[in-house]
Amino acid sequence: MRAGFARQAAHYDSQARLQQAVAWRLARWCRDLPLTAGPVADLGSGSGLLSRALLRHWSALADQPPLQLDHCPSLLALNPLLVSAAPLPQRLWDLNDGLPIELAQAALLASSFALHWLDDPVSQLESWCDRLAPGGWLLLAVPTAGSFCQWRQVAAAAAVPCTALALPEAAALLAASAARGLRPQRQALLRFSQAMPDGLACLRQLKAIGAGTSRQPRLSPGQWRRLRSHWPSPACLDWEILLLLAQRDPCV
Ligand SMILES: C[S@@+](CC[C@H](N)C(=O)[O-])C[C@H]1O[C@@H](n2cnc3c(N)ncnc32)[C@H](O)[C@@H]1O
Repeated sequence: MRAGFARQAAHYDSQARLQQAVAWRLARWCRDLPLTAGPVADLGSGSGLLSRALLRHWSALADQPPLQLDHCPSLLALNPLLVSAAPLPQRLWDLNDGLPIELAQAALLASSFALHWLDDPVSQLESWCDRLAPGGWLLLAVPTAGSFCQWRQVAAAAAVPCTALALPEAAALLAASAARGLRPQRQALLRFSQAMPDGLACLRQLKAIGAGTSRQPRLSPGQWRRLRSHWPSPACLDWEILLLLAQRDPCV
């Protein structure tokens, strides 16, 4: 998976239009929010689309710039804010190992389009919630299990396995954050549909942002041909995305 992101790093910002739009929407939610003292981090930051949007909209972050955490050095290196006058701190880190010790009692843990890549998204989310200070914020965007409907339907019709990445259920993520004592301030389950000429273009779009990898075995050439022959033209790449802004009780 890391290799998939590394290979496509140079094209990420120009191709990741959905990720860009979601980052701006999350950042607008945070404008004017109070920020307690404590570490601030963008988890799975990649080239920093979310951090850049947050710094643009959330003035309180000017004094506490987010630590950029990612396991892909070539994506981290693309963040233009790393070479600016006051560069953002960054850390090469595998989020499957939990969070680094310096993120205890965090004021903000933000993450966009990264949690679903982890081996166990629900338990990692629980541990992120546990790291928040009283009054600390969780800001999250994550594709969820209702995504890629057309791909799944086409695979079923073609009688081949659907090799899309298995995505977490939105309800399970919301339940996990509530069980760890977080109160949602804003949440939305959004549906986006990207029009594509055909099924191959859908898969190429995922590959272009480094997200074309899956944990399942590759399809054989014969299975690919069957899958493509069932995919309607034009096609659509559909996403279900959970957006969540939640806070740990300030009085705990
Ligand atoms: C689709 S990109 C999203 C990047 C950025 N948050 C954005 O919104 O544009 C997914 C990011 O998650 C990172 N990632 C995936 N698995 C990871 C892991 N186990 N540890 C750290 N980062 C990971 C990838 O390297 C990549 O930068």
